[in-house]
Amino acid sequence: MQYFVRRPWDLPHREITEESAYHSRKQHRREFLQVMGIAGIAGATTGLIGCGSEPTLEDLQTTPTGRPPKISASDGTADPNNRTTQELVDPGLPTEVELAVYPAERNDEFQYGRDETPEKAALQYTNFYEFSQEKSSWQLVRDFKPRPWTVEIDGLCDKPMQLDLDDIAKKMTFEERAYRHRCVETWAMCVPWTGFELAQLIQLAEPKPSAKYVRMETVNRPDEMPGINATPDYPWPYAEGLTIEEAMNKLTFIATGIYGKLLPKQNGSPLRLVTPWKYGFKCIKSIVKITLTAEQPKTFWNTLIPERYGFTANVDPQETIPWPQNSEWMLGTNEGFFGGAKRYPTEKYNGYGEYVAKLYVS
Ligand code: MTE
Repeated sequence: MQYFVRRPWDLPHREITEESAYHSRKQHRREFLQVMGIAGIAGATTGLIGCGSEPTLEDLQTTPTGRPPKISASDGTADPNNRTTQELVDPGLPTEVELAVYPAERNDEFQYGRDETPEKAALQYTNFYEFSQEKSSWQLVRDFKPRPWTVEIDGLCDKPMQLDLDDIAKKMTFEERAYRHRCVETWAMCVPWTGFELAQLIQLAEPKPSAKYVRMETVNRPDEMPGINATPDYPWPYAEGLTIEEAMNKLTFIATGIYGKLLPKQNGSPLRLVTPWKYGFKCIKSIVKITLTAEQPKTFWNTLIPERYGFTANVDPQETIPWPQNSEWMLGTNEGFFGGAKRYPTEKYNGYGEYVAKLYVS
């Protein structure tokens, strides 16, 4: 996803060392050395050059309420002391959206078909360029304030509106969905999102028949997001778009939580798009604005590198731009002896064709 600086993940993966070998290089130095075939040195150097910055799961749970306990449908865990959801939620900051995410029921219609990604891997290995171009945003989100939060819906609709998180909690029906996620960098994950269908939100605004596209925009706060100042030539704010049919599709989800807990800042708190049949860059984070338009909107990646990142961006194993997309490796599976992440062949529409293929027949 790089633009000015050519980085290892800009190279076709077949020409280089396995991608899992160099991702998050500081934290995974040992695996890197192992995959490079110098396992002995790896063991010896781990102590010297150090993996001291390896975070705990709690370090990665960068929610504004601290670290709420897990009591959702994700694993059916109940509080051993039988406290209510309200009692368990961090006192002090209980907005209704905090309360709303916890009792969300898992929608069993959606299954990963593979193992769930360890929570720690999904919270640590994130793409959020407003903070960093490395997978280390969790270390840079301290100043980011996802409360209070307002999302504006405007453009071609009869009821333009502004909603805060309490409004959203009252008006939306929350559920949990187990979705696969596929990044164009060829890593993939299986995570449980808590949230609601984007269609629910858009319907509130009553789109006009002339609305053909939905543009979404991330908050633009250089004082809280150090990656913005570091890349002044990038077309901030981050923006993405869908056709109105894609936006209203059943799969299209707005996440407020992950693994049954509030969405950490680095994963796109407090509102983040999830479109599991598209490459991950479509899943715009920390959304503040949703605009209904007649014209196809400009998007962040399409503006930066149009020949590489198209507007539609559906997962497609036939594609070789910018590198072969026919297989994917799973986050959190490269801890074994001699490294080597678990790989799967990539499926068209990331395996969600039954829901979305109909959108693309001309
Ligand atoms: N949204 C914003 N605002 N900024 C970003 O840099 N990165 C995208 C997407 N949404 C990005 C973003 C990319 S490239 C991916 S793969 C997903 O977020 C990653 O989501 P995750 O970090 O929760 O895995």
